[in-house]
Amino acid sequence: MLNGTSVKPFLKWAGGKAQLLHELAKLCPNNIRKYYEPFLGGGALFFFLGPKNYLLSDNNPELINLYKCVADHPKEIVHNLETMKNEESYFYNIRNKSFFELDKIYAAARTIYLNRTCFNGLYRVNKKGHFNVPYGKYKNPNIIQKEKILIASKLLSSHKIKLMDFREIEKIKFSKDDFIFFDPPYVPAEGYADFKRYTRKQFTYDDHLELAEIFTKLATNKLRLILTNSDTHFVRSLYKRHKIITVQSKRLINIKSDKRISRDVIIYANI
Ligand SMILES: C[S@@+](CC[C@H](N)C(=O)[O-])C[C@H]1O[C@@H](n2cnc3c(N)ncnc32)[C@H](O)[C@@H]1O
Repeated sequence: MLNGTSVKPFLKWAGGKAQLLHELAKLCPNNIRKYYEPFLGGGALFFFLGPKNYLLSDNNPELINLYKCVADHPKEIVHNLETMKNEESYFYNIRNKSFFELDKIYAAARTIYLNRTCFNGLYRVNKKGHFNVPYGKYKNPNIIQKEKILIASKLLSSHKIKLMDFREIEKIKFSKDDFIFFDPPYVPAEGYADFKRYTRKQFTYDDHLELAEIFTKLATNKLRLILTNSDTHFVRSLYKRHKIITVQSKRLINIKSDKRISRDVIIYANI
């Protein structure tokens, strides 16, 4: 059921799985009945594998609106992107509009525009839920990405994309041969005190504890699971009953944006 499309995601996403993709793909079963990704973000693994039967979810309303619109209105998004300018005053003007007051398709184009033109392609919102990453000053950001959007649109179907907290995964009736890939916001590498703010509400240690409990319950029910996180004592202790592989990755682990070599873990069950 995997198409193996290797479609490149159209969003830059903090914690994106580009470097881990090959390791993850090696582990993924090839007889997946239905693919679940409850922390979708940039969706790198989904696009890489190209499953036909899936449920994608995230609790970020802008992100979910974007994927639903890419599924249903890719050409309109491209038309909107063609009118958007890589200029500082234009950027702040468009950034200051409230997502909840915008037309859905325009809002989707804006999410791509901000992602391409803001500093480092970060997604961060303040406590009120307003996007607050500064202008990135790139000379030629590829804002439109027509081909990627049209190809992604073919893989996506809006009724398989849901705004959902990860805890709701517990309500799903899974079947044998289903597979879940969990890529939560990472636990900060040891010595770094802040989580990346993807959504209004931070992902806390308690969230990680709950996620680990859900993972263990699903593993006990024989579901096939993969989860990624940073290589920390906390993560290792949460998942000590499961299989763990360590992988080196180069990602941003510091709020000051130093690039450092860090280690990630891939945790898996029933594979
Ligand atoms: C590390 S990113 C996912 C990266 C992505 N899988 C990729 O490959 O690019 C984590 C995602 O979790 C989402 N998230 C944070 N808290 C959540 C929650 N409580 N329930 C569901 N999704 C959540 C964020 O919006 C963010 O998109």
